[in-house]
Amino acid sequence: MTRVFSGVKPTGHLTLGNYLGAIRRWAAVDQHQADALFCIVDLHALTVDHDPARVRRLSRQAATLLLASGLDPEVCTVFVQSHVDEHTRLSYLLECVATDGEMRRMIQYKEKARREGERGGSVRLSLLTYPALMAADILAYGTDEVPVGDDQTQHVELTRDLAVRFNQRYGHTFAVPRATHPKVAARVMNLQDPTAKMGKSDDAGPGIICLLDEPDVVRKKVMRAVTDSGRDVVYDPEGRPGVANLLEILAACTGGNPEGLSGVYESYGALKKDIAEAVTEVLRPVQERHKELCADPAYVEGVLREGAERAREMARPRVDAAYRAIGLLPPE
Ligand code: TYM
Repeated sequence: MTRVFSGVKPTGHLTLGNYLGAIRRWAAVDQHQADALFCIVDLHALTVDHDPARVRRLSRQAATLLLASGLDPEVCTVFVQSHVDEHTRLSYLLECVATDGEMRRMIQYKEKARREGERGGSVRLSLLTYPALMAADILAYGTDEVPVGDDQTQHVELTRDLAVRFNQRYGHTFAVPRATHPKVAARVMNLQDPTAKMGKSDDAGPGIICLLDEPDVVRKKVMRAVTDSGRDVVYDPEGRPGVANLLEILAACTGGNPEGLSGVYESYGALKKDIAEAVTEVLRPVQERHKELCADPAYVEGVLREGAERAREMARPRVDAAYRAIGLLPPE
């Protein structure tokens, strides 16, 4: 059976981008068609300035939202990264296989390091080595497919390179995974700046729709979305990125396709009204279920505890094999 692994980082409130680009597909398709693991990758949240209490709170919230989105612990494994030591054990070995140059070429590292520099802050070393930990997340489970949004493609490519290199040098140990993306909304853009990704790190911004935003907040954000100077509704991601983004969101929420939908609207106002409606409808069941689950934190904790046990059992043999293959003396 195909093994699927994917994760979400608790650095902010989950957004519509996370949902349409990744989580929705995990629930609708991946968990039913594969042996799937979904992880709240909390160690990754420590690579940038963080508040410990907030990371804890966001980790719990992310777990609750994954379940509210339809991940079913009876058919898939949901767990927290820091509960399974195999991730950090393997990450170190992969740092011994990766090169400094390939880490520094990662677009996300370059962007975040630049932003940090502009703020006068310092860059944590773990931000540079982040892709080795992400590769460990994936490779520890013999993963075949990694369902992610567009922005993670480069990290998954690097993971492939590390798997192939490890296997060539030390003997076959890891499956070589591939990224899969949704057909539409693989990169949802910020409603106020359609050249930037809708990212959860700036989740207070008016261009970011959060999964827990109330309907009137969603409506306001959508109605204020930046469009382009033209008046007609056309799908042209290069020339008219604002409108193209809106059409992608609508298509993802209604099951249509962005080009087809562009012919339906004569004004931006009508388009936005339908988007606000469609997004609210998509979020409604998630928010309702989230509310129910919040009333039962012991259930969520139990899911995470059992998930971590299962994940540990799945990861340990492969990570142990990697330790032996690379030349470390097994403990007797
Ligand atoms: P993260 O937490 O930034 O995002 C979680 C998932 O949501 C997708 N995504 C988007 N998709 C479409 N449009 C957007 N605006 C948008 N923003 C986010 C991401 O592509 C991702 O699929 N490095 C990863 C977390 C990670 C991971 C892993 C993922 C760590 N280890 C192993 C897969 C496998 C990250 O920062 O995702």
